[in-house]
Amino acid sequence: MAAELYTLRWGIIATGRISQVFTLDLQSDPKTRDVHDVAHQIVAVGSRSVESAQKFIDQHAPSTQATAYGSYAGVYSDPNVDAIYIGTPHTMHYENARDALNAGKHVLCEKATTSNAPELRALLALAKEKRLFFMEAMWTRFQPLVKEIKRVAEEGSLGVPVVLHADLSGDFDIENIPKTHRILDPKLGGGALLDLGPYPMVWAVLGLYEHPVNKNARPTSISGSILKTPLTGVDSSTSFTLNFTEHLHAQAILSCSITLPSPSPAVTIRYRNGNILVQPPIYKPTTFTVQYFDKPGSGKVVREETRTFSYSGGGWYYEADEVAQCIRDGKLESETWGHDKSILLMEVFDEVRKQGGYALPEGVEKVH
Ligand SMILES: NC(=O)c1ccc[n+]([C@@H]2O[C@H](COP(=O)([O-])OP(=O)(O)OC[C@H]3O[C@@H](n4cnc5c(N)ncnc54)[C@H](OP(=O)(O)O)[C@@H]3O)[C@@H](O)[C@H]2O)c1
Repeated sequence: MAAELYTLRWGIIATGRISQVFTLDLQSDPKTRDVHDVAHQIVAVGSRSVESAQKFIDQHAPSTQATAYGSYAGVYSDPNVDAIYIGTPHTMHYENARDALNAGKHVLCEKATTSNAPELRALLALAKEKRLFFMEAMWTRFQPLVKEIKRVAEEGSLGVPVVLHADLSGDFDIENIPKTHRILDPKLGGGALLDLGPYPMVWAVLGLYEHPVNKNARPTSISGSILKTPLTGVDSSTSFTLNFTEHLHAQAILSCSITLPSPSPAVTIRYRNGNILVQPPIYKPTTFTVQYFDKPGSGKVVREETRTFSYSGGGWYYEADEVAQCIRDGKLESETWGHDKSILLMEVFDEVRKQGGYALPEGVEKVH
């Protein structure tokens, strides 16, 4: 007998770029990706103006009959909404997610989940108290290619990981955009680290933190270096290193920049017996190569396999399916991208900002 179909009813918060692409993906038919147990419905959109919410629905979800609200609070109190998707700038995530949870809604929150780790801890405690699901929108971790890399990395032939390099960069043309753009404005958590840093981190988590030999041990040391732009003082380039020495003897060397494109490959995971090379963009890669050495440590590649994946749409629907399946099953967090990983990311960012001397302006961080 076919499993009963569970439909998750979504409320979308904010009408910016990421909300648009996520909303489009929610409308793609799950059956086209061989998902038959969950479906998605967009029932409400909230914006700072009702005109903008209605325009968003007309342009990006015209067949949904979603309700347009001129405030985010309208969506939180809509009884037809089960889960809220938060697509505002990072420094607003804490208040938006807190209000959604207080209204009894499950939450999928864009990355960086909050401005700092104390804000995220407060949200997770609230979600737990209210018995509501909360997940960081780490869409990359749910993509089929990424799951396949995890399988290859852990099936044994490559041995244990030793060094992982990952970079996500993009040229935001910072000399020519307004200083109020969220990537440049410190009040909106601007800069490379909070915007792009989650992506090198997802690879460090997948390649090292999640590796079975590591037994989910957290990094034993974190070091970071920040280069600030004189334009607004946000970080234009940041590099950071995580050592995993409790069970592995491995290091993640991570970087991000808002002033130039990513290198290629943009992720390299180096093992005693070979390498995994991932081509950019690392948030949604389509190609990776696995190299195998003739003997451990030799560097002589005797076998190389390149795999290419393609999917229609943006690729955000995989995380949406995970949210629907978890909520249907009464789970409070995802087993694939759980709260421990989101906390780890925010703690690393806090430490790197501290070492690099990048303090957010007074009043931006709501919990300390
Ligand atoms: N997962 C991904 O692939 C991905 C990609 C890009 C960005 N993101 C994350 O998603 C979040 C939003 O990014 P985005 O690129 O969508 O940004 P965006 O295009 O600037 O949109 C942000 C939206 O937030 C709302 N907002 C509320 N207060 C605001 C303020 N003071 N300044 C600016 N906007 C404000 C606005 O919507 P209303 O006017 O409707 O209220 C605005 O359209 C960020 O945390 C970012 O890191 C994720």
